[in-house]
Amino acid sequence: MSSTNHFLDIDALDAKTLRGMLDDAHDMKARWKAKDRPKPCTDMVLVTIFEKPSTRTRVSFDLAMRQLGGETINLSPGDMQLGRGESIADTAQVLSRYVDAIMIRTVDHQKMLDLAHHGSVPVINGLTDRTHPSQLMADVMTVEEHLGPIRDKVVAWAGDGNNMACSWIHAAVRFDFELRIACPPKYRPPAEIMDWASEHQGRVKIVETVDEAVTEADCIVTDTWKSMSDERAEAEALDTSALEDFRIDGSKMALANPSAIFMHCMPIYRGNEVTGAVADGPQSVIYDEAENRLHAQKAILKWCLS
Ligand code: CP
Ligand code: NVA
Repeated sequence: MSSTNHFLDIDALDAKTLRGMLDDAHDMKARWKAKDRPKPCTDMVLVTIFEKPSTRTRVSFDLAMRQLGGETINLSPGDMQLGRGESIADTAQVLSRYVDAIMIRTVDHQKMLDLAHHGSVPVINGLTDRTHPSQLMADVMTVEEHLGPIRDKVVAWAGDGNNMACSWIHAAVRFDFELRIACPPKYRPPAEIMDWASEHQGRVKIVETVDEAVTEADCIVTDTWKSMSDERAEAEALDTSALEDFRIDGSKMALANPSAIFMHCMPIYRGNEVTGAVADGPQSVIYDEAENRLHAQKAILKWCLS
């Protein structure tokens, strides 16, 4: 097992490590607001590589690194020889001679794993086609800010069984909460991720209807129907009509606990996966969730660079 502190996925880390990172994120947020701003990453440099667009991940990681005293170099494959066919192995080894950590958002999960395998500095997953773990750290943090410890809470996922759904499954196991997933049969999360949850005694189940998922839930989550670089959407094979029944609207929110919150990693497509009334309504915590990317990303960076 590698001794490098990679942040590749939530299932790759143990519950204690993740809990430590999350506690640090809560603590750093409070301290930042109280103007207590230590800089443990002074003189360190993070490279970020984006193969797909990003607003929140790009800005939050860049700012997180600066707030910790370090610097960031932002790249896209078009700026790099990677875009002309240089191998991931050579890219990983060369960047490891220059910088202290690499964050990558990639169309191919394996590329991120290869980067970690061939390099010698920590690699951070900034979203792949399969998972989005840095978002989940901010999401769990947001649940806890609004509802207290996430342990034993009930989270309902509705919509496509995409990269966000997979990371929610990992998080349910590691942070010990119940996760009910409502999605069309053909757009369920990958079977091996569901199997991993079962093998680890996760309280994760796929349900038939959104009503079943959201009834008495503490938190309702959804995401776009068309993820970036989604091969189904690019081939015009994505059946959005199958997703219509999985939209979150006021009637679904009304079935949840009265204190329930609505979450979405953003960007949001109002009128598709969620109505504008819910996304912009009193139970929505989407902007807290986006803000928490910054503090959660600082905790990840601190852990990776410690
Ligand atoms: N939620 C999220 O990752 O947003 P960006 O695509 O803007 O980074
Ligand atoms: N599932 C979405 C998440 C965006 C942050 C996507 O991959 O595009």
